[in-house]
Amino acid sequence: MSLLNPNQRLGRGTTLDHHVPTTSSVSIPSSSSSNAHNSRKKWSNLLPLFLVLVFIAEISFLGRLDLDKNADLLNSWTESFYQFQTSSFSSASLDTADEDSAVGVSGAVVVDESGDGGESCEEWLERADSVVYSRDFKKEPVLVTGAEQEWKSCAVECKFGFGNKKADAAFGLPNGADTAGVLRSMESAQYYPENNIAMARRKGYNIIMTTSLSSDVPVGYFSWAEYDIMGPVQPKPEKALAAAFISNCAARNFRLQALEGLEKSNIKIDSYGGCHRNRDGNVNKVEALKRYKFSLAFENSNEEDYVTEKFFQSLVAGSIPVVVGAPNIQDFAPAPGSILHIKELKDIESVAKTMKHLGEDPIAYNESLKWKYDGPSDSFKALVDMAAVHSSCRLCIFLATRIREKEESSLFPKRPCECRRGGETVYHIYVRERGRFEMESVFLRSGNLTMEALQTAVLLKFKSLKYEPVWRNERPESIRGDKNALKIYRVYPIGMTQRQALYTFSFKTSTAFTSHIKSNPCAKFEVIFV
Ligand SMILES: *[C@@H]1O[C@H](CO)[C@@H](O)[C@H](O)[C@H]1NC(C)=O
Ligand SMILES: *[C@@H]1O[C@H](CO)[C@@H](O)[C@H](O)[C@H]1NC(C)=O
Repeated sequence: MSLLNPNQRLGRGTTLDHHVPTTSSVSIPSSSSSNAHNSRKKWSNLLPLFLVLVFIAEISFLGRLDLDKNADLLNSWTESFYQFQTSSFSSASLDTADEDSAVGVSGAVVVDESGDGGESCEEWLERADSVVYSRDFKKEPVLVTGAEQEWKSCAVECKFGFGNKKADAAFGLPNGADTAGVLRSMESAQYYPENNIAMARRKGYNIIMTTSLSSDVPVGYFSWAEYDIMGPVQPKPEKALAAAFISNCAARNFRLQALEGLEKSNIKIDSYGGCHRNRDGNVNKVEALKRYKFSLAFENSNEEDYVTEKFFQSLVAGSIPVVVGAPNIQDFAPAPGSILHIKELKDIESVAKTMKHLGEDPIAYNESLKWKYDGPSDSFKALVDMAAVHSSCRLCIFLATRIREKEESSLFPKRPCECRRGGETVYHIYVRERGRFEMESVFLRSGNLTMEALQTAVLLKFKSLKYEPVWRNERPESIRGDKNALKIYRVYPIGMTQRQALYTFSFKTSTAFTSHIKSNPCAKFEVIFV
């Protein structure tokens, strides 16, 4: 059994009506399915077999556990088997030590607290759902082999190195069932086809780290640390409107035609690279770019999210990037109207016209660089903040999260995630900031089971903790905002890709949100602060 089923994250990211902990290979039939009765009968015949299979699979996955723990695991499995039977097959209330417990629709334990004085639902939930994990990452860090990594710090204990000790993950194709194979590359899939996510999955990689924001752990060219993105704008003394640093005219896109097209439209270009060179290339690139109104940021392939230093150096220089490259380059713009995009050859003429217009109109030109003075958009900050946590650390968080989810799945349906009092149900929800590992508890009430209420609860919780966002010391000082202010940019279920989290996902209706909470006991979310 593979620790990291590649399809799972897609499945979980897009369909939200599933029981969360589906990491183990047994799938519990949904209690709401229409032919539930028949399928349950069949399932019940197969269950003892399944139990044995799953148990064996669990042991092989948790191979590092010592024997005592395996025995515990067996106990916990037999217990959950028993509960599963009672809850799913006889709809009788659960026979546990806690008289008040009953199994809710979601399979989680619900406590009806009416009549019980003293402790609030929230207090009870927080106390009762303190999962004790068998793996303590402080003692047994996440282990990744096949690369060295120096740490500043990571939210989960984590070790990189070489050696044949049994690792959680290793760079390269997987060669042991329990060690996830990691593909890490910053090249475009047009030059390295295996970097295409679907292709890499087919080849057998379990975790994919590419420039694609749809990969498991994206590795971008951008970060606050590498680029002085908020560096000041300088005067533009050069006669030529744009500078180009294109080393090689050959490319798998139309960048050469775009260059020639702009020249034909009478855009004067100083070319420092090997392609159409007319200036001595022996200069500091960013310093040179600062002297030009525009910078040709022409990538060698037009691929989603493939945005390299060409683009970010133009931003540093305060030279408006004219882009041939990622079709979604506007997702990477520091503000609306701050970049120009030659998406297709037929755009050349209108882009050339805009360049001429901005070149002659200082006020309009300055307007395009307004973000340099007033700060970039929240969307840009939220994107670049991702890189405030090193990709290797994000890999460890990803692995540790999977390991814990795996373990939690064996605890269901025993975990208490809901509490009923009077006519109201209180839901226990877990939230962490993107880039962190540990979760905080928040609570929602059935009377107000909405995304807005979740956001309010998250803000209250993190403010009460005097919480410092993970990017606080990474962002340029001028755009850190007020130290005591917390602003939510996104809240999304854990397991989503950054493409989904930042750009495509939302609960379309309040019903979608409600049913997500109800069908995912102790639902977990990640928050992005800006
Ligand atoms: C550009 O605009 C900023 C304010 O947005 C202003 O501070 C700066 O002086 C302007 N620069 C020029 C050259 O007009
Ligand atoms: C529900 O939550 C929202 C956001 O926190 C709040 O503004 C609203 O007053 C709440 N409504 C009820 C009925 O509690």
